[in-house]
Amino acid sequence: MPKLNIVILAAGLGKRMHSTLPKVLHPLAGRPLLSHVLDTARALAPEKICVVYGHGGEIVPQTIDDRKLIWVKQELQLGTGHALMQTLPHLDKSGMTLVLFGDVPLTRVETLRELITAAAAAKYLALLTLELDEPHGYGRIVRSSREGKITAIVEEKDASETQRQIREINTGIMAVPNQYLHDWLHKLENNNAQKEYYLTDIVAMAVKDGVKVEATQPGRAWETLGINSKVQLAALERIYQNESAHRLLEQGVTLADPSRIDIRGQLACGSDVTIDVNCIFEGLVQLDDNVRVGAHSILKNVKIAAGTVVAPFSLIEDAEIGKNCRIGPYARIRPGTRLASEVHIGNFVEVKNSSIAAGSKANHLSYLGDAVVGKNVNIGAGTITCNYDGANKYQTIIEDDVFIGSDTQLIAPVKVAKGATIGAGSTITRDTPPEKLTLSRAKQISIAGWKRPIKKVKHEK
Ligand code: UD1
Ligand code: CA
Repeated sequence: MPKLNIVILAAGLGKRMHSTLPKVLHPLAGRPLLSHVLDTARALAPEKICVVYGHGGEIVPQTIDDRKLIWVKQELQLGTGHALMQTLPHLDKSGMTLVLFGDVPLTRVETLRELITAAAAAKYLALLTLELDEPHGYGRIVRSSREGKITAIVEEKDASETQRQIREINTGIMAVPNQYLHDWLHKLENNNAQKEYYLTDIVAMAVKDGVKVEATQPGRAWETLGINSKVQLAALERIYQNESAHRLLEQGVTLADPSRIDIRGQLACGSDVTIDVNCIFEGLVQLDDNVRVGAHSILKNVKIAAGTVVAPFSLIEDAEIGKNCRIGPYARIRPGTRLASEVHIGNFVEVKNSSIAAGSKANHLSYLGDAVVGKNVNIGAGTITCNYDGANKYQTIIEDDVFIGSDTQLIAPVKVAKGATIGAGSTITRDTPPEKLTLSRAKQISIAGWKRPIKKVKHEK
């Protein structure tokens, strides 16, 4: 394989997005369009990747933040040929350059491999083309009538009536031999309908120079769909989600409804995983064997070990959850949480930056923040670790086999020693001894002779 350079054109305005955010930064599946293209580019292991940016300026390289990329600014958007010209000083003299668009996010790596293989075979210029029933708006592939060889690409706005009937379109993605690239780009002119320097004009130049022009096609039509509007973005998002869902189904994951799951990152599943409707997975999520995720749950950067059940409406972020746990419904597990096996976190329980050892339970209405909880602890309903004094945060330590009665406040820093029992309604401000009952509670009294107030009767005037 000859040396591969990749250029991603990403300087376009994206006016139809009606947004101040540069088009290539709009998210698809939770990540900028450009990041998807970069993933694909990196998978091809090129010598270098250049990104041409322009509109929106520095926010594009700032957001992507990858020093290994070569960022080239195109001050004025004078056309695709002009954009590629800006990268010439960075490109190798031999090998080939693959041109991708920053707003065409879903091209598969296999498709591009096929294209560059075609180009490499005999120093061809290789185009990715597609037959469309409605080719309107695209550049058309002009072929010779006798041999059917590609002779040129003509843009819609410059095309004759007959050329507009052509259904083979230019996707814009091409692989160009570097040895000709300098020469061809310098010869480009902008005497066309849009007064732009068209990259597509190099096709006719190649033919003139006796360089063969080949075309390959993507396996799926959506691979080369570009995004110019929110309507197209939403449509492509659905295509992406549908593809992800079907990949999961093919791996054996049970989805209650493949059209009601959103994966914004990577979801790895073991065997016999079941996911109910309307769940969102963000970042890196790993669900081991037999994990069940209830409806309307949101999991972000989470690892869940085998056999755990997440009941509906649970939110889990940056956490590690052990085997056979029961989470939710309506649980909120926040960053820095580690649950060992067989832990139960019930409804309206919030856990933050805490570790909970095996077999412990907090089943109802609690807040556990900055806590270290031992094994087989029972945390009663309404228990709160008061971890914050308004300025600093403190730790609560609850040792093995502790029983915390309902509606207890643990004023951190505080330690409840092994086997202790805390009476319901207590406010615990000091460390408690092991194995004893500790409670802080006002004595119950009953007042003799007390009478309920009687409602005053209002007299009419
Ligand atoms: C281009 C092709 C057309 C093809 C179509 C596929 C040319 C002349 N035409 O047309 O044959 O059918 O794509 O969608 O190449 N860009 C820059 N700088 C510029 C101009 C464009 O970086 O000065 C970038 C855009 O951000 C975009 C890509 O190049 O990612 C394509 O630009 P766009 O204006 O969408 O090209 P089309 O006119 O649609
Ligand atoms: Ca254009």
